[in-house]
Amino acid sequence: MSNIFEDLENDETQGPTIFKDKRPLDHRWLPDKLVHREEQIRQIAKNWIDVLSNVTPSNVTLYGKTGTGKTAASKFAREQLIDIARKKNIFVKVEYIRCTDYTTEYQVIAELCNKLGRDVPNRGWTKGEVVNTFRDIFKTNAFGKKLHLIVILDEIDILLDKDGDGILYTLTRTENVSVLCISNYLDFKNLIKSRVTSSLNDKEIVFPPYGADQLSDILKERAELSFNENVLENDVIPLCSAMAAKEEGDARYALDLLKNAGELAFDEDSEKVTNNHVKRAKDKIEHNKVIEIISTLPLQQQRVLESILNLTKQKEEITSGKLYEAYTDLYKKDAVTYRRIFDFINELEMLGIISTNTISRGRGKGRTNIIKLQCDETLLETTLFSI
Ligand SMILES: Nc1ncnc2c1ncn2[C@@H]1O[C@H](COP(=O)(O)OP(=O)(O)OP(=O)(O)O)[C@@H](O)[C@H]1O
Ligand SMILES: [Mg+2]
Repeated sequence: MSNIFEDLENDETQGPTIFKDKRPLDHRWLPDKLVHREEQIRQIAKNWIDVLSNVTPSNVTLYGKTGTGKTAASKFAREQLIDIARKKNIFVKVEYIRCTDYTTEYQVIAELCNKLGRDVPNRGWTKGEVVNTFRDIFKTNAFGKKLHLIVILDEIDILLDKDGDGILYTLTRTENVSVLCISNYLDFKNLIKSRVTSSLNDKEIVFPPYGADQLSDILKERAELSFNENVLENDVIPLCSAMAAKEEGDARYALDLLKNAGELAFDEDSEKVTNNHVKRAKDKIEHNKVIEIISTLPLQQQRVLESILNLTKQKEEITSGKLYEAYTDLYKKDAVTYRRIFDFINELEMLGIISTNTISRGRGKGRTNIIKLQCDETLLETTLFSI
Protein backbone atom coordinates (compact mmCIF):
# COMPACT_ATOMS: atom_id res chain seq x y z
CA MET A 1 0.00 0.00 0.00
CA SER A 2 1.33 3.43 -0.82
CA ASN A 3 1.93 5.91 1.90
CA ILE A 4 0.32 9.33 1.63
CA PHE A 5 3.30 11.09 3.20
CA GLU A 6 5.77 9.36 0.94
CA ASP A 7 3.61 10.22 -2.06
CA LEU A 8 3.56 13.87 -1.06
CA GLU A 9 7.30 13.91 -0.47
CA ASN A 10 7.97 12.39 -3.88
CA ASP A 11 5.36 14.36 -5.79
CA GLU A 12 7.36 15.89 -8.65
CA THR A 13 4.54 18.25 -9.58
CA GLN A 14 5.02 20.03 -6.27
CA GLY A 15 7.43 22.89 -6.89
CA PRO A 16 10.02 23.79 -4.33
CA THR A 17 8.07 23.88 -1.09
CA ILE A 18 7.81 26.97 1.04
CA PHE A 19 9.51 25.71 4.18
CA LYS A 20 12.95 24.28 4.63
CA ASP A 21 12.54 23.77 8.38
CA LYS A 22 9.61 25.12 10.37
CA ARG A 23 11.15 24.72 13.81
CA PRO A 24 12.96 28.08 13.92
CA LEU A 25 9.61 29.84 13.54
CA ASP A 26 8.27 28.26 16.73
CA HIS A 27 8.28 30.52 19.83
CA ARG A 28 10.04 27.92 21.90
CA TRP A 29 12.98 27.59 19.55
CA LEU A 30 16.08 29.21 21.01
CA PRO A 31 18.26 30.86 18.35
CA ASP A 32 22.00 30.60 18.81
CA LYS A 33 22.30 34.34 18.40
CA LEU A 34 20.00 37.08 19.75
CA VAL A 35 20.53 40.18 17.67
CA HIS A 36 19.92 43.52 19.38
CA ARG A 37 20.03 41.93 22.81
CA GLU A 38 23.80 41.70 23.14
CA GLU A 39 23.87 44.46 25.77
CA GLN A 40 21.16 42.91 27.96
CA ILE A 41 22.83 39.49 27.79
CA ARG A 42 26.16 41.09 28.70
CA GLN A 43 24.52 42.68 31.73
CA ILE A 44 23.15 39.34 32.90
CA ALA A 45 26.55 37.74 32.36
CA LYS A 46 28.32 40.51 34.28
CA ASN A 47 26.26 39.57 37.31
CA TRP A 48 26.43 35.84 36.88
CA ILE A 49 30.19 35.75 36.26
CA ASP A 50 30.80 35.85 40.03
CA VAL A 51 29.66 32.26 40.27
CA LEU A 52 32.76 31.19 38.33
CA SER A 53 34.80 32.41 41.31
CA ASN A 54 32.49 30.56 43.68
CA VAL A 55 30.71 33.75 44.77
CA THR A 56 26.90 33.89 44.82
CA PRO A 57 25.85 36.32 42.05
CA SER A 58 23.66 39.35 42.66
CA ASN A 59 19.99 38.94 42.00
CA VAL A 60 18.80 40.26 38.67
CA THR A 61 15.43 41.46 37.39
CA LEU A 62 14.50 41.71 33.72
CA TYR A 63 11.70 44.07 32.77
CA GLY A 64 10.00 44.57 29.45
CA LYS A 65 6.79 44.27 27.51
CA THR A 66 5.67 41.08 25.89
CA GLY A 67 7.86 39.67 23.09
CA THR A 68 10.93 41.77 23.90
CA GLY A 69 13.20 38.75 24.31
CA LYS A 70 13.37 38.42 28.11
CA THR A 71 12.77 34.67 28.24
CA ALA A 72 15.03 34.05 25.25
CA ALA A 73 17.86 36.18 26.68
CA SER A 74 17.71 34.47 30.07
CA LYS A 75 17.76 31.02 28.48
CA PHE A 76 20.62 32.06 26.23
CA ALA A 77 22.67 33.32 29.19
CA ARG A 78 21.84 30.11 31.01
CA GLU A 79 23.18 27.88 28.21
CA GLN A 80 26.36 29.91 28.05
CA LEU A 81 26.93 29.78 31.79
CA ILE A 82 26.31 26.05 31.99
CA ASP A 83 28.75 25.56 29.14
CA ILE A 84 31.62 27.49 30.73
CA ALA A 85 30.91 26.10 34.20
CA ARG A 86 31.21 22.59 32.82
CA LYS A 87 34.56 23.44 31.27
CA LYS A 88 35.81 25.05 34.46
CA ASN A 89 34.41 22.30 36.63
CA ILE A 90 32.29 24.70 38.70
CA PHE A 91 29.27 23.18 40.39
CA VAL A 92 26.43 25.47 39.30
CA LYS A 93 22.84 24.78 38.33
CA VAL A 94 20.56 27.22 36.58
CA GLU A 95 16.92 26.17 36.90
CA TYR A 96 14.17 27.75 34.85
CA ILE A 97 10.71 28.02 36.42
CA ARG A 98 7.72 29.41 34.58
CA CYS A 99 5.49 30.81 37.27
CA THR A 100 2.36 30.16 35.26
CA ASP A 101 3.05 26.45 35.81
CA TYR A 102 4.20 26.71 39.43
CA THR A 103 2.04 29.31 41.07
CA THR A 104 2.85 28.94 44.77
CA GLU A 105 5.98 29.06 46.87
CA TYR A 106 5.43 25.42 47.85
CA GLN A 107 5.20 24.31 44.22
CA VAL A 108 8.31 26.21 43.17
CA ILE A 109 10.46 24.97 46.04
CA ALA A 110 9.18 21.41 45.60
CA GLU A 111 9.99 21.56 41.90
CA LEU A 112 13.48 22.89 42.63
CA CYS A 113 14.06 20.08 45.14
CA ASN A 114 12.93 17.53 42.56
CA LYS A 115 15.16 19.03 39.88
CA LEU A 116 18.08 18.87 42.30
CA GLY A 117 17.44 15.26 43.09
CA ARG A 118 15.38 15.37 46.30
CA ASP A 119 11.97 13.76 46.21
CA VAL A 120 9.31 16.10 47.50
CA PRO A 121 5.61 15.38 46.95
CA ASN A 122 3.57 17.97 45.05
CA ARG A 123 1.44 18.48 48.12
CA GLY A 124 1.04 17.21 51.64
CA TRP A 125 4.17 18.45 53.38
CA THR A 126 4.21 21.65 55.35
CA LYS A 127 5.94 24.61 53.76
CA GLY A 128 8.57 24.42 56.50
CA GLU A 129 9.40 20.81 55.62
CA VAL A 130 9.86 21.64 51.95
CA VAL A 131 11.97 24.70 52.65
CA ASN A 132 14.19 22.74 55.06
CA THR A 133 14.69 19.99 52.50
CA PHE A 134 15.63 22.63 49.94
CA ARG A 135 18.10 24.35 52.26
CA ASP A 136 19.69 21.03 53.15
CA ILE A 137 20.81 20.66 49.56
CA PHE A 138 23.20 23.54 50.06
CA LYS A 139 24.61 22.20 53.29
CA THR A 140 25.73 18.81 52.12
CA ASN A 141 26.57 17.50 48.76
CA ALA A 142 27.99 14.26 47.64
CA PHE A 143 30.79 15.78 45.59
CA GLY A 144 32.19 17.78 48.48
CA LYS A 145 31.82 20.83 46.28
CA LYS A 146 29.79 23.90 46.91
CA LEU A 147 26.62 23.92 44.82
CA HIS A 148 25.49 27.27 43.42
CA LEU A 149 21.95 27.66 42.21
CA ILE A 150 20.52 30.37 40.01
CA VAL A 151 16.73 30.29 39.78
CA ILE A 152 15.06 31.97 36.82
CA LEU A 153 11.53 32.92 37.86
CA ASP A 154 9.77 33.77 34.59
CA GLU A 155 6.47 35.68 34.73
CA ILE A 156 6.96 36.20 38.44
CA ASP A 157 4.06 38.67 38.66
CA ILE A 158 1.63 35.77 38.55
CA LEU A 159 3.22 34.00 41.49
CA LEU A 160 3.54 37.17 43.57
CA ASP A 161 -0.03 38.09 42.88
CA LYS A 162 -1.34 34.66 43.81
CA ASP A 163 0.88 33.63 46.67
CA GLY A 164 2.70 36.70 47.93
CA ASP A 165 6.42 37.34 48.18
CA GLY A 166 7.34 34.39 50.43
CA ILE A 167 9.13 32.69 47.56
CA LEU A 168 11.57 35.58 47.16
CA TYR A 169 12.10 35.73 50.89
CA THR A 170 12.95 32.04 51.02
CA LEU A 171 15.21 32.03 47.97
CA THR A 172 17.10 35.20 48.80
CA ARG A 173 17.72 33.93 52.31
CA THR A 174 19.14 30.60 51.27
CA GLU A 175 22.88 30.41 51.03
CA ASN A 176 24.36 30.05 47.53
CA VAL A 177 21.07 30.82 45.81
CA SER A 178 20.57 33.70 43.43
CA VAL A 179 17.43 34.63 41.51
CA LEU A 180 16.69 36.17 38.15
CA CYS A 181 13.15 37.51 38.04
CA ILE A 182 11.35 38.26 34.79
CA SER A 183 8.43 40.66 34.84
CA ASN A 184 6.25 42.49 32.33
CA TYR A 185 5.62 45.32 34.74
CA LEU A 186 8.00 47.99 35.91
CA ASP A 187 6.02 48.36 39.12
CA PHE A 188 6.21 44.70 40.11
CA LYS A 189 8.08 45.70 43.26
CA ASN A 190 4.76 47.01 44.59
CA LEU A 191 3.88 43.37 45.12
CA ILE A 192 6.91 42.91 47.41
CA LYS A 193 7.25 43.97 51.03
CA SER A 194 10.24 46.08 51.99
CA ARG A 195 11.96 43.34 54.01
CA VAL A 196 12.06 41.30 50.80
CA THR A 197 13.10 44.20 48.56
CA SER A 198 16.12 44.75 50.78
CA SER A 199 17.25 41.14 50.65
CA LEU A 200 16.57 41.02 46.91
CA ASN A 201 18.79 44.04 46.25
CA ASP A 202 18.63 43.29 42.55
CA LYS A 203 20.24 44.70 39.42
CA GLU A 204 17.57 45.80 36.98
CA ILE A 205 17.85 45.28 33.25
CA VAL A 206 15.31 46.82 30.90
CA PHE A 207 14.26 45.27 27.58
CA PRO A 208 12.86 48.04 25.40
CA PRO A 209 10.36 47.24 22.63
CA TYR A 210 11.96 46.42 19.28
CA GLY A 211 11.74 48.93 16.43
CA ALA A 212 10.72 47.85 12.93
CA ASP A 213 14.35 47.62 11.74
CA GLN A 214 15.36 45.46 14.66
CA LEU A 215 12.40 43.17 14.07
CA SER A 216 13.46 42.89 10.43
CA ASP A 217 16.91 41.73 11.50
CA ILE A 218 15.38 39.13 13.82
CA LEU A 219 13.05 37.86 11.12
CA LYS A 220 15.80 37.72 8.50
CA GLU A 221 17.83 35.37 10.69
CA ARG A 222 14.87 33.07 11.19
CA ALA A 223 13.69 33.27 7.59
CA GLU A 224 17.05 32.12 6.33
CA LEU A 225 16.80 28.97 8.42
CA SER A 226 13.11 28.34 7.79
CA PHE A 227 12.22 29.27 4.24
CA ASN A 228 13.61 28.00 0.98
CA GLU A 229 15.54 30.49 -1.10
CA ASN A 230 13.61 33.16 -2.99
CA VAL A 231 10.29 32.07 -1.52
CA LEU A 232 9.66 35.29 0.39
CA GLU A 233 8.76 38.29 -1.71
CA ASN A 234 10.89 41.30 -0.84
CA ASP A 235 8.34 43.24 1.12
CA VAL A 236 7.16 40.36 3.32
CA ILE A 237 9.69 40.81 6.13
CA PRO A 238 9.41 44.63 6.19
CA LEU A 239 5.63 44.33 6.36
CA CYS A 240 5.66 41.78 9.21
CA SER A 241 8.16 43.97 11.06
CA ALA A 242 6.17 47.15 10.59
CA MET A 243 2.98 45.48 11.78
CA ALA A 244 4.69 44.02 14.84
CA ALA A 245 6.41 47.32 15.64
CA LYS A 246 2.92 48.79 15.92
CA GLU A 247 2.02 46.01 18.34
CA GLU A 248 4.50 47.35 20.88
CA GLY A 249 7.60 45.86 19.25
CA ASP A 250 6.60 42.28 19.95
CA ALA A 251 9.01 39.80 18.31
CA ARG A 252 6.68 36.88 19.03
CA TYR A 253 3.95 38.56 17.03
CA ALA A 254 6.37 39.28 14.17
CA LEU A 255 7.38 35.61 14.07
CA ASP A 256 3.75 34.54 14.22
CA LEU A 257 2.90 36.72 11.26
CA LEU A 258 5.75 35.31 9.21
CA LYS A 259 4.95 31.72 10.13
CA ASN A 260 1.23 32.05 9.45
CA ALA A 261 1.86 33.84 6.16
CA GLY A 262 4.13 30.96 5.14
CA GLU A 263 1.53 28.41 6.16
CA LEU A 264 -1.18 30.14 4.14
CA ALA A 265 1.10 30.14 1.09
CA PHE A 266 1.90 26.47 1.67
CA ASP A 267 -1.79 25.51 2.02
CA GLU A 268 -2.54 27.22 -1.28
CA ASP A 269 0.37 25.53 -3.05
CA SER A 270 1.67 28.99 -3.79
CA GLU A 271 5.32 29.26 -4.79
CA LYS A 272 5.83 32.56 -3.03
CA VAL A 273 4.84 34.20 0.22
CA THR A 274 3.35 37.60 -0.58
CA ASN A 275 2.11 40.72 1.16
CA ASN A 276 -1.37 39.45 0.77
CA HIS A 277 -0.50 36.32 2.77
CA VAL A 278 0.85 38.53 5.55
CA LYS A 279 -2.34 40.59 5.68
CA ARG A 280 -4.45 37.47 5.84
CA ALA A 281 -2.13 36.02 8.46
CA LYS A 282 -2.85 39.08 10.58
CA ASP A 283 -6.61 38.48 10.33
CA LYS A 284 -6.15 34.82 11.15
CA ILE A 285 -4.09 35.58 14.26
CA GLU A 286 -6.58 38.16 15.47
CA HIS A 287 -9.40 35.74 14.81
CA ASN A 288 -7.73 33.04 16.90
CA LYS A 289 -6.95 35.50 19.65
CA VAL A 290 -10.60 36.57 19.92
CA ILE A 291 -11.70 32.94 20.03
CA GLU A 292 -9.22 32.20 22.79
CA ILE A 293 -10.20 35.22 24.87
CA ILE A 294 -13.93 34.55 24.58
CA SER A 295 -13.75 30.85 25.26
CA THR A 296 -11.68 31.32 28.40
CA LEU A 297 -13.92 34.02 29.90
CA PRO A 298 -15.83 33.12 33.07
CA LEU A 299 -19.39 31.99 32.39
CA GLN A 300 -21.06 35.13 33.74
CA GLN A 301 -18.98 37.33 31.47
CA GLN A 302 -19.84 35.16 28.49
CA ARG A 303 -23.48 35.69 29.34
CA VAL A 304 -23.04 39.45 29.45
CA LEU A 305 -21.31 39.25 26.10
CA GLU A 306 -24.18 37.18 24.75
CA SER A 307 -26.60 39.91 25.85
CA ILE A 308 -24.45 42.55 24.13
CA LEU A 309 -24.49 40.42 20.99
CA ASN A 310 -28.30 40.11 21.08
CA LEU A 311 -28.78 43.84 21.50
CA THR A 312 -26.29 44.53 18.70
CA LYS A 313 -28.22 42.24 16.39
CA GLN A 314 -31.42 44.08 17.27
CA LYS A 315 -29.58 47.28 16.31
CA GLU A 316 -30.21 48.70 19.77
CA GLU A 317 -28.13 51.45 21.28
CA ILE A 318 -26.60 49.70 24.28
CA THR A 319 -26.50 51.54 27.58
CA SER A 320 -25.45 49.81 30.81
CA GLY A 321 -29.07 49.93 32.00
CA LYS A 322 -30.40 48.33 28.85
CA LEU A 323 -27.65 45.71 28.97
CA TYR A 324 -28.53 44.78 32.52
CA GLU A 325 -32.18 44.45 31.56
CA ALA A 326 -31.39 42.20 28.60
CA TYR A 327 -29.02 40.12 30.71
CA THR A 328 -31.47 39.57 33.59
CA ASP A 329 -34.18 38.71 31.08
CA LEU A 330 -31.94 36.00 29.71
CA TYR A 331 -30.58 34.64 32.97
CA LYS A 332 -33.17 35.48 35.60
CA LYS A 333 -32.22 32.83 38.12
CA ASP A 334 -28.54 33.34 38.72
CA ALA A 335 -28.01 36.87 37.48
CA VAL A 336 -25.24 38.85 39.14
CA THR A 337 -25.72 42.36 40.53
CA TYR A 338 -25.75 45.56 38.49
CA ARG A 339 -22.48 46.55 40.17
CA ARG A 340 -20.73 43.40 38.89
CA ILE A 341 -21.92 44.12 35.37
CA PHE A 342 -19.90 47.35 35.52
CA ASP A 343 -16.78 45.37 36.41
CA PHE A 344 -17.45 42.99 33.54
CA ILE A 345 -17.88 45.87 31.11
CA ASN A 346 -14.52 47.27 32.18
CA GLU A 347 -12.80 43.91 31.84
CA LEU A 348 -14.30 43.24 28.41
CA GLU A 349 -13.18 46.68 27.31
CA MET A 350 -9.65 46.04 28.55
CA LEU A 351 -9.58 42.84 26.51
CA GLY A 352 -10.56 44.89 23.46
CA ILE A 353 -13.77 42.98 22.81
CA ILE A 354 -16.07 45.93 23.41
CA SER A 355 -15.63 49.68 23.59
CA THR A 356 -17.52 52.18 25.72
CA ASN A 357 -18.13 55.78 24.95
CA THR A 358 -19.62 58.30 27.35
CA ILE A 359 -22.04 60.69 25.73
CA SER A 360 -23.95 63.62 27.08
CA ARG A 361 -27.70 63.55 26.51
CA GLY A 362 -27.97 67.30 26.66
CA ARG A 363 -28.45 69.76 29.46
CA GLY A 364 -29.94 68.32 32.63
CA LYS A 365 -30.17 64.81 31.24
CA GLY A 366 -26.82 63.54 32.48
CA ARG A 367 -24.32 61.30 30.73
CA THR A 368 -24.67 57.78 29.46
CA ASN A 369 -22.25 55.03 28.60
CA ILE A 370 -22.74 53.53 25.16
CA ILE A 371 -21.33 50.03 24.64
CA LYS A 372 -20.23 48.74 21.25
CA LEU A 373 -18.94 45.38 20.11
CA GLN A 374 -15.40 45.54 18.80
CA CYS A 375 -15.15 42.05 17.38
CA ASP A 376 -16.84 40.32 14.51
CA GLU A 377 -20.47 39.41 15.30
CA THR A 378 -20.48 36.08 13.52
CA LEU A 379 -17.20 35.09 15.08
CA LEU A 380 -18.52 35.96 18.53
CA GLU A 381 -21.72 34.07 17.93
CA THR A 382 -20.07 30.90 16.71
CA THR A 383 -17.54 31.02 19.55
CA LEU A 384 -20.13 31.59 22.27
CA PHE A 385 -22.34 28.81 21.04
CA SER A 386 -19.65 26.25 20.42
CA ILE A 387 -18.17 26.36 23.91
N1 LIG B 1 16.75 39.45 19.69
C1 LIG B 1 16.14 38.38 19.25
N2 LIG B 1 16.68 37.60 18.29
C2 LIG B 1 16.04 36.49 17.86
N3 LIG B 1 14.85 36.09 18.32
C3 LIG B 1 14.26 36.81 19.29
C4 LIG B 1 14.87 37.98 19.80
N4 LIG B 1 14.05 38.52 20.75
C5 LIG B 1 12.98 37.72 20.81
N5 LIG B 1 13.10 36.70 19.95
C6 LIG B 1 12.12 35.63 19.73
O1 LIG B 1 10.83 36.18 19.88
C7 LIG B 1 9.98 35.35 20.64
C8 LIG B 1 9.53 36.07 21.88
O2 LIG B 1 10.63 36.31 22.75
P1 LIG B 1 10.56 36.00 24.30
O3 LIG B 1 9.69 34.82 24.54
O4 LIG B 1 11.93 35.95 24.83
O5 LIG B 1 9.80 37.32 24.81
P2 LIG B 1 9.46 37.76 26.30
O6 LIG B 1 10.06 39.11 26.50
O7 LIG B 1 9.83 36.68 27.23
O8 LIG B 1 7.87 37.92 26.19
P3 LIG B 1 6.74 37.66 27.34
O9 LIG B 1 6.83 38.81 28.27
O10 LIG B 1 5.47 37.66 26.56
O11 LIG B 1 7.05 36.35 27.98
C9 LIG B 1 10.80 34.11 20.94
O12 LIG B 1 10.50 33.12 20.00
C10 LIG B 1 12.24 34.57 20.80
O13 LIG B 1 13.08 33.52 20.41
MG1 LIG C 1 8.68 35.39 28.37
